[in-house]
Amino acid sequence: MSATLIDGKRIAEHFRERYKLQTAKLAAAGVVPGLAVVIVGDDPASQVYVRNKARACESIGIRSQVHALPSSISQAELIAFVQKLNADAEVHGILVQLPLPGHLDDRAVIESIALDKDVDGFHYANMGRLVIDESPFPPCTPYGVMQMLRHEGISVDGKHAVIIGRSNIVGKPQAMLMLKEGATVTICHSRTQGLAEHCRRADILVAAVGRANFVRGDWVKPGAVVIDVGINRLGDGTLCGDVHFAEASQVASAITPVPGGVGPMTIAMLLGNTLRAAARVRGLSIDEAGVA
Ligand code: GUN
Repeated sequence: MSATLIDGKRIAEHFRERYKLQTAKLAAAGVVPGLAVVIVGDDPASQVYVRNKARACESIGIRSQVHALPSSISQAELIAFVQKLNADAEVHGILVQLPLPGHLDDRAVIESIALDKDVDGFHYANMGRLVIDESPFPPCTPYGVMQMLRHEGISVDGKHAVIIGRSNIVGKPQAMLMLKEGATVTICHSRTQGLAEHCRRADILVAAVGRANFVRGDWVKPGAVVIDVGINRLGDGTLCGDVHFAEASQVASAITPVPGGVGPMTIAMLLGNTLRAAARVRGLSIDEAGVA
């Protein structure tokens, strides 16, 4: 392997340490930050993600509540539940784990979250802010990617960023964040023709397609930075990303591993967004590093 490994676990730890100090400062000012996580049904992967989010909160002093609701819940009941959390002064951030079971409308549920508690940043208004100006709650995964690049001293300004994936959770907000920092952005997806050629033109390649080992070494321009957002479970139970790591790491200048790359950054950014939500209640702010 010739690429430098971008160690998301270590970088996330750095953010968590700062957020821990910030949480203590907020607590001293009489605000104990609180995050409510709502999970509907019994999808095992979602259960793991939710557990990790709650644990990360507790580890830095954010009070977390996990609400596991049955998959039989109706749309109206779920929205009423979210509205109760909207009115709860101890809850500063609300996260509804996606995807929801098929009979529920993800979009309608997200829109029922109070704008100033939307720590995922998925509400129409916060997504709109992200496009036009700046969201108080940048979506955690793409924001984590940006913070990771910044931490490693990798500028995207003037570079060509190619993003594979057009989801509302990663691809679209990632494009906006890259654009804001001066990148020229190409968004590719499953129907893109000549995908490998597009990827070969990337200075920064972000893979968020959800297909194991999809991006091969010869799709990577020599010296490119490769960010792997995918988390896929193989038949033998091991985790791997969307990028064929063994091949791509021979060509890239820097690359994120899976696990231990983007994943821990997503959770760290959720903590940051929750702190920002709590601080805003008091008219306080936290800077990028999470220190008041
Ligand atoms: N499912 C996969 N990623 C996410 C995320 O960042 N937030 C929520 N709410 N659900 C997800």
